[in-house]
This record gives sequence, C-alpha cells and structure tokens, in this order.
Amino acid sequence: MFVLPAGTPGEAGAELMARSGRLLQAAAVKRLELPAPDLHVLEIGFGPGVGLALLADTVPQGHVTGVDPSELMHRHAAQRNSEAIAAGRMTLIRSTADTLPLPDDSQDAAMMIDNLHFWPDPVAGLREVSRVLAPGGAVVCGFSPPSGGPPNDLARMFDTAGFVEIESLTRRGGFLLRARTATGADR
Ligand SMILES: C[S@@+](CC[C@H](N)C(=O)[O-])C[C@H]1O[C@@H](n2cnc3c(N)ncnc32)[C@H](O)[C@@H]1O
Repeated sequence: MFVLPAGTPGEAGAELMARSGRLLQAAAVKRLELPAPDLHVLEIGFGPGVGLALLADTVPQGHVTGVDPSELMHRHAAQRNSEAIAAGRMTLIRSTADTLPLPDDSQDAAMMIDNLHFWPDPVAGLREVSRVLAPGGAVVCGFSPPSGGPPNDLARMFDTAGFVEIESLTRRGGFLLRARTATGADR
C-alpha cells in the first residue's frame, strides 16, 4: 500500500497520501529555501505527486525530476502534473534512490518525504543523492506522524553520507531534516 504501492491497496494509499500529505510537503518545499525560480530540483519517492506539483510551482522557470519505482504512483503523479510534463518542465523516472539515473552535480536541491525508511541501504541512497546534487545543494527529508517518524540515527546517516549543516525540526505536520552538500569552503 505504501512501500511499493500497487493494485487496489495502492489506489487507496494514493488517495490517502494525496489527502493527508500536503501540509508536510508544503513545509518541506518551503524549508528547501530555493533561492531562484529557474533551479533544477529532485523529489525521490514522490507517491501520488502532490510534492512534485508544489515544487513545479516554486521553480516555474526551472525543472523538476521525480524518481519513484512504483508504476501506479507514476500514473497518479503523471495525471496530477500533466501540464508541467507536457511543457517539458517535469520528468518522471522509474527507479530507486540507490540508482538515480542523473548526471553528477545536475540538481540544485532534493527532497524525500515518508520514503527513506523504505530504502534498502539509506546511507548508499544518500551518497547517491549527494552525487547528483551540486556543491552546496539543499536536501530536505521529512516524515509524517503516520509514517512512525524518522529513524533514530537519521542525522548520523546524513553525516556519514557527507552532508553538512544538518538541522532537524519537528512541527505539527511532522518531522523535517535539512542539510546541504559540502562545498570547497567546508573542506
Ligand atoms: C509512503 S509513499 C510517500 C509518497 C510521498 N512522498 C508522500 O509523502 O505522499 C512512499 C513512496 O516511496 C516509493 N519508494 C519505495 N521504495 C523506494 C526506493 N527504494 N527509492 C525511491 N522511492 C521508493 C514508493 O513507491 C512510494 O511512492
């Protein structure tokens, strides 16, 4: 229903996620603090695509890439974001966090909500996110209350994967961690 949504349970999960997830996703997009409307941003595990739509509104002259392995979630997200996709402002890719088919340093920011706890190897996935982010690129990782919250060692995972300025924030709609990739100045 939520890990790799498919079939009738997946349809029910998609509806639930689309209805209940908006608050935390809007908070996550805000927390990315995207400084310009022409940036390239990535969402991993986009589910029904509500977060993708919020990102596309935030970078109207940029580009949004979504990565998710679920065929059903691709259908929902593609329908919800048909205009941005038709306009060439959004691309959806069927893959997982540990194999992002994107060039090094190609994204300015990335987010993932209720998702990292499903990755088989979160640190390997975070290293992959770091690879595709430009130096200094922001990442926001969120967990809604129904997800059960973040893993206890989430900040350590980001640290091990090489992220810096790791900050956690708990709010009414859930938990958010923000970090960024290192730049030359951090070394
Ligand atoms: C609980 S849903 C969350 C969807 C959305 N982010 C939201 O907050 O509504 C989890 C999503 O993660 C995707 N997913 C599962 N394993 C994944 C992996 N290894 N890499 C990337 N996405 C994955 C699922 O297909 C599903 O769409």
